[in-house]
Amino acid sequence: MSVKVLITGAAGLLGSNFSRFLMEQGYEVVGIDDFSGGYRENLAEGFSCADINLADLSAVDGYFASERPDYVYHFAAYAAEGLSPFIRRYNYTNNLICSANLITSSIKHGVKKFIFTSSMAVYGPQRPPFVETMARRPIDPYGIAKYAVEMDLRVAHDQHGLSYSIIRPHNIIGIYQNIWDRYRNVIGIWIRKSIRGEPLFIYGDGLQKRAFSDVSFYMKPFERLMYEYNGEIFNLGADKERTIGEAAELVKKCAGNFGFYPEIVHLEGRHEVKFAWCDHGKAKSLLDFRDGTNMEDTVNRMFSWALGQKDRKVKKTEYELEKGMYSFWKEEK
Ligand SMILES: NC(=O)c1ccc[n+]([C@@H]2O[C@H](COP(=O)([O-])OP(=O)(O)OC[C@H]3O[C@@H](n4cnc5c(N)ncnc54)[C@H](O)[C@@H]3O)[C@@H](O)[C@H]2O)c1
Repeated sequence: MSVKVLITGAAGLLGSNFSRFLMEQGYEVVGIDDFSGGYRENLAEGFSCADINLADLSAVDGYFASERPDYVYHFAAYAAEGLSPFIRRYNYTNNLICSANLITSSIKHGVKKFIFTSSMAVYGPQRPPFVETMARRPIDPYGIAKYAVEMDLRVAHDQHGLSYSIIRPHNIIGIYQNIWDRYRNVIGIWIRKSIRGEPLFIYGDGLQKRAFSDVSFYMKPFERLMYEYNGEIFNLGADKERTIGEAAELVKKCAGNFGFYPEIVHLEGRHEVKFAWCDHGKAKSLLDFRDGTNMEDTVNRMFSWALGQKDRKVKKTEYELEKGMYSFWKEEK
């Protein structure tokens, strides 16, 4: 009998890459996405993706009753960390309530394992590289939602026997990333802006540090988690950190390969963790994880892909709170 895998957020960066990978391995793969942050055009040909908002528990439960997935990879989220304090309700609905609904249906319908993408946002402003055993100290509602889901999975395991693994990825890049959302995916934003002849904005001094990794290196470790390491948490991502200023220079260099010459402009800083990257020793030893990211190659590939996409409107979000909003998000930039 074939193994049936449900991927939520199937039209997003991780979902569209991982669904292709699993289909190539011969799995029966189905998806859920409400297309709020991913696009139908990202779906592989012939891939069955239900248009369901995961906030709707009865729709989710009805889907589980009819599809009966063996495994669930829960990728769906609205991962706009910096915006999350201004859209608390939307953040907790998409990132916490949706997850709770999926966990409920997974328990009820006997899912064999639930694999959840949390985030390094749970670590907060501790000293990097972050290790899985560190305390969780998120500084924004996005990180708090991820933290809460991590806790809820542990309880679902202890009380109801739901098997699970948690991945804490960080700064993933690759094709099918949403580059038309001005609140998230900095590399994608800069690629869009380069193509449109707009400046590349850096919030603050540009000395923030992050490590960017190509999505392709996540596929095999993700698959292994289906069968191994119940209850374990893994950081996944690149080891090599760089400043945001350096990342902007790299995107600018790649833009030049395609005939675009954007300038780099600094704007006011944001409420964010300044230095954030992770240790991947655990994933390397237990999941044979190897990150082989060559950021320049990946960004060049993203430019080629972006130039083949239709020109989409940049998403506008209704703020739930205006107080303390950064000037660059008050205006159309
Ligand atoms: N990309 C990264 O660098 C990164 C880093 C850390 C954690 N993560 C986590 O990994 C996961 C996948 O990230 P991604 O970059 O692929 O995100 P993405 O935005 O590309 O994809 C998420 C998908 O979820 C869908 N979605 C959102 N809300 C939904 C809802 N209520 N119902 C149904 N579908 C909904 C969106 O339409 C989108 O297609 C997320 O949980 C994110 O928080 C990503």
